[in-house]
Amino acid sequence: MTYRILTPQEAASYINNGDGVGISGFTLSGTPKAVLPEVAKRAEEIHATGKPFKINLYSGASTGDTIDGVLTRANALNFRAPFISNPTVRNAINEKEIIYTDLHLSLMAQDLRYGYLGKVNVAILEAIDITPDGKVYLTTAGGIGQTVANLADRIIIERNTYHHTMGLHDVYEPLDPPYRREIPIYKASDRAGKPYVQVDPKKVIGIVEVYQPNEQVVFKELDPVTRKIGENVVEFILNDIKRGIIPATGLPIQSGIGNVANAVLKALGENDELPVLDLYSEVLQDSVIGLMEKGRVNVGSTCSLSLSQECLQHVYDNIEFFRDRLILRPSEISNHPEIIRRLGLIAMNTAIAIDLYGCVNSSHIGGTRLMNGIGGSGDFARNAYVSIFTCPSTQKGGMISSIVPMVTHTDHTEHDVRVVVTEWGVADLRGKGPDERAKLLIENCAHPEYRNLLWDYLKITKKGHVSHNIVASLAMHATYDSDGDMRKIDWSKYL
Ligand code: COA
Repeated sequence: MTYRILTPQEAASYINNGDGVGISGFTLSGTPKAVLPEVAKRAEEIHATGKPFKINLYSGASTGDTIDGVLTRANALNFRAPFISNPTVRNAINEKEIIYTDLHLSLMAQDLRYGYLGKVNVAILEAIDITPDGKVYLTTAGGIGQTVANLADRIIIERNTYHHTMGLHDVYEPLDPPYRREIPIYKASDRAGKPYVQVDPKKVIGIVEVYQPNEQVVFKELDPVTRKIGENVVEFILNDIKRGIIPATGLPIQSGIGNVANAVLKALGENDELPVLDLYSEVLQDSVIGLMEKGRVNVGSTCSLSLSQECLQHVYDNIEFFRDRLILRPSEISNHPEIIRRLGLIAMNTAIAIDLYGCVNSSHIGGTRLMNGIGGSGDFARNAYVSIFTCPSTQKGGMISSIVPMVTHTDHTEHDVRVVVTEWGVADLRGKGPDERAKLLIENCAHPEYRNLLWDYLKITKKGHVSHNIVASLAMHATYDSDGDMRKIDWSKYL
């Protein structure tokens, strides 16, 4: 089979109003770069004639400005799932201009196959290359490439020659019930599938030639707070190893996204007292690559290389070293509950806020405004050997406490949150009743300026298995909204 070479504009002309478009990639990594900006232009041209043009966009996780941003500005998105991080699409979702469903990332491919999310008409895959018999070698992320290629009627390949390293992927798609079997991954380093996505060549409309890096990932520098959170996590894990709770050989690590997660992973890798780490995670950020070279990380199983351009180039330049150490998996596998439970992961994710009993908000600021989404945090938190949530004890210069009487949105219930770590210390909630949980969270994790305020809240609660004052429980959030500072809370109003 020989494929047609298409310009991005020609490829975009195959995408129509109302189409479901499924793409490769996960975060800013491995997403197509050329066709969707042309779809945005096409939308604007069609809107100018008074006709509608919007697509439903399905991806592995978030995308960057070249997809979510550009399509939102062109008013070309009707529906979006399962995760975002781009400020433009975030704002449009919060303004109710785009329908968004927040999904556990492990479920995205499965929900598409089960028919929960509507038809995938077109798949756009960023690839290093495609063979005449339809073997597609993806670039830097697993995502939902195989699933959308199977479901789509039409496939567009973006052959991005900026990327040139094959062999990192392990593409495995489970059968659906009632035929599902166990997924044969027993160690972070195991491979269960093929190094390519298999597509039906007859569905391939053509190839668009691209030479473009992934959008740049920018992290905040480590600061005293994130550094201290990292040190506290290390101390907790070392202590669990000493007590024989975590095996002395260690357990695979999952690390979430963002600045805090990056800082925690760095602290973990740099501590020589910990065993050499295996990672079984959904994203690998820059910190891991250096740790591999230092011999502190053995293997990195991930869905996405979320690396800066310099760091990715370094991996490509030293591919013989990294080839056996890096494995790129579909998001359904990197985040699969079965494997997470089997491998016994130490899962570390970041919270927006945590209540006095351990319920976590990961996704909605003030209970209403979407931040990014639940992402993979729920896949890992519920199924891990030990699930740790980290966050700074305060936000916005101390005006917001991350430890609050009640969270305004619950992503993770107290059943899934085993350990909480802030810069002040560790609340080990395992095996504790509600009152002990509240005490540990206030004394070990809350900022000292908020500890008495939180104790004062408990004094006005109605006692029960879980003590709450239903009216006052959200008052700290309301006080921030009205007075700009949670410390201005006046509990006497609720006596
Ligand atoms: N109230 C108001 N704003 C808050 C807040 C709160 N309780 N908690 C955090 N924020 C704001 C911060 O102030 C910051 O805002 P800024 O960008 O204007 O400075 C922003 O949220 C990010 O916070 P930061 O402390 O820098 O954390 P982060 O980059 O580590 O991200 C999450 C934290 C929770 C937003 C991020 O980890 C996330 O989206 N998690 C959910 C998905 C997930 O866990 N995926 C991983 C699975 S592998």
